[in-house]
Amino acid sequence: MIDFNKDPFEQFDRLLKEAAEKQIPEANAMSVATVDERGVPSVRVCYLKEVSQGGFVFYGNYNSHKGQSIEYNSNVCLNFYWPAIWQQVRITGKAEKISAAESDAYFATRPRLSQIGAWASHQSEVIPDIDWLSRRVQEYEKQFDGQSVPRPPHWGGWRVIPQEIEFWFGLTGRLHHRYVFHREGSLWKTFMRSP
Ligand SMILES: Cc1cc2nc3c(=O)[nH]c(=O)nc-3n(C[C@H](O)[C@H](O)[C@H](O)COP(=O)(O)O)c2cc1C
Repeated sequence: MIDFNKDPFEQFDRLLKEAAEKQIPEANAMSVATVDERGVPSVRVCYLKEVSQGGFVFYGNYNSHKGQSIEYNSNVCLNFYWPAIWQQVRITGKAEKISAAESDAYFATRPRLSQIGAWASHQSEVIPDIDWLSRRVQEYEKQFDGQSVPRPPHWGGWRVIPQEIEFWFGLTGRLHHRYVFHREGSLWKTFMRSP
């Protein structure tokens, strides 16, 4: 039997630390699945930046494809897979924008070029060519020369409030363990699923 924490956030935290200790590269990289207004799913990798206030926080452009999809349908699914410890975590829940103050605080810690990039890039839009993007970067570098770069209003974080967290532990013979925390009101119902 696997030693398991009764709090899914503590369990997640423990695994993320274990992954980092095993030097798994970019252990905080996760697949983020959304569904757009046509009902078409899409998945992309984003960095988990924080687990706080009962949710999983990541950042990006609110006007991007994922941003517009979340605006239309806040149901999302996050997935981590750490091969070196043979574990997978799937988080299903609803994404909500974090406060402007939280986004400001995180944006201020980003490298300057990433801050400029957040202004220059209309994430997910078709661009004429790469020179167009370079020109926009130069324009914003000039605009913010000698001053700190403010957070663009179209850039910020989302917090995914989980409805369910499933921990998958790889074991030999395909008899993997799947532990599920499913939220029912303020309580977590726990059960296992067949592998
Ligand atoms: C390792 C890795 C980490 C990434 N982290 C982020 C991130 O934190 N936020 C983000 O918006 N895009 C991130 N990206 C880029 C996204 O995968 C994606 O290309 C971008 O968000 C646009 O997606 P969309 O057009 O579906 O909105 C990352 C890509 C990789 C490969």
